[in-house]
Amino acid sequence: MINTATARFAGRSVFRIGYGALQLHRLHDRRDEAVALLRRAVELGVNHVDTAEFYGSGFANAAIREALRPEDDVLIVTKVGADPDPGGPLPLRIAQRPEQLRASVEDNLRSLGLDRLPVVNLRRLDTGPGLRAEGVQIVDLDDQLATMTALRDEGKIGAIGLSGVTIDGLRRAIPAGVACVQNAYSLASRDDEDMLRLCAAEGIAWVPFFPLGGAGTGLPKVTEDSAVLAAAESLGVTPSQIGLAWLLHHAPNILLIPGTADPAHLEANMAVSEITLNGDLLPTLDAIESRSNNLPFGAAS
Ligand SMILES: NC(=O)c1ccc[n+]([C@@H]2O[C@H](COP(=O)([O-])OP(=O)(O)OC[C@H]3O[C@@H](n4cnc5c(N)ncnc54)[C@H](OP(=O)(O)O)[C@@H]3O)[C@@H](O)[C@H]2O)c1
Repeated sequence: MINTATARFAGRSVFRIGYGALQLHRLHDRRDEAVALLRRAVELGVNHVDTAEFYGSGFANAAIREALRPEDDVLIVTKVGADPDPGGPLPLRIAQRPEQLRASVEDNLRSLGLDRLPVVNLRRLDTGPGLRAEGVQIVDLDDQLATMTALRDEGKIGAIGLSGVTIDGLRRAIPAGVACVQNAYSLASRDDEDMLRLCAAEGIAWVPFFPLGGAGTGLPKVTEDSAVLAAAESLGVTPSQIGLAWLLHHAPNILLIPGTADPAHLEANMAVSEITLNGDLLPTLDAIESRSNNLPFGAAS
């Protein structure tokens, strides 16, 4: 029986349902609401928040700094590999060079008001949705890991994660110590099943981004699958909740970071820990076909 409540991550126990801060940028003009949403998340039990300096060009980190207190004991996970590009088309730009990774760690330390970043994901561009590196931005993984491990040795980061990585890349990085992998993955989009299994065997947390298919990314939406809709109706819950509950049931090392700017959705996402997928429900959902082929480039990262 899988423990749907807590799991080990970066040397501590976290509630398996965390919060992803990407959608906070939609509250850019309503900072009080962003802060209140984060406070509500903590009240509901969130002790793992995923962010990046480039979410809302610093807005997400600023809101997190304002909302979270040391006594909340929230594990803040951020990422490097891209920098804010306010006014740009995405608005982020690739920043894969070792010196850019280091600078981005410093930026995150400053904006989050921390002496040490508990976990930092190295956002590679090797797989899944998003941009691809070109020219000088194509950097060997080993060179990046050398920078990340140096930053860990210096105490600026607590643990290293990987994102947008292939299974070969993950295998290369494991000797350096990997706390988590963050790739696009959901009930409707399951390309990385082998990597998920490797993570489980190695004690690495699997923290999928786009666990519901993302906001308008062009990826398959979990909530549009007929088997998900039927399961939701039979349990009297929402289709999003079924998608998240399936992830919790699928493997014990999966941690959730659904993104939302809506307090009601936050409540619904936290209530997923109460959902049990009994009887035929789990095999029926397992049988849903993965529809992740031909992931679009340029989708949000
Ligand atoms: N490593 C990476 O490259 C990377 C890339 C992308 C994202 N991420 C991280 O992963 C997190 C999750 O990804 P995401 O936020 O892009 O996508 P997601 O969690 O798959 O989906 C977010 C979308 O689902 C909606 N939603 C959330 N909860 C809902 C509910 N209970 N009922 C109905 N709709 C709901 C949100 O809208 P509302 O706001 O209206 O609820 C939003 O449109 C991000 O927040 C970010 O922290 C990492």
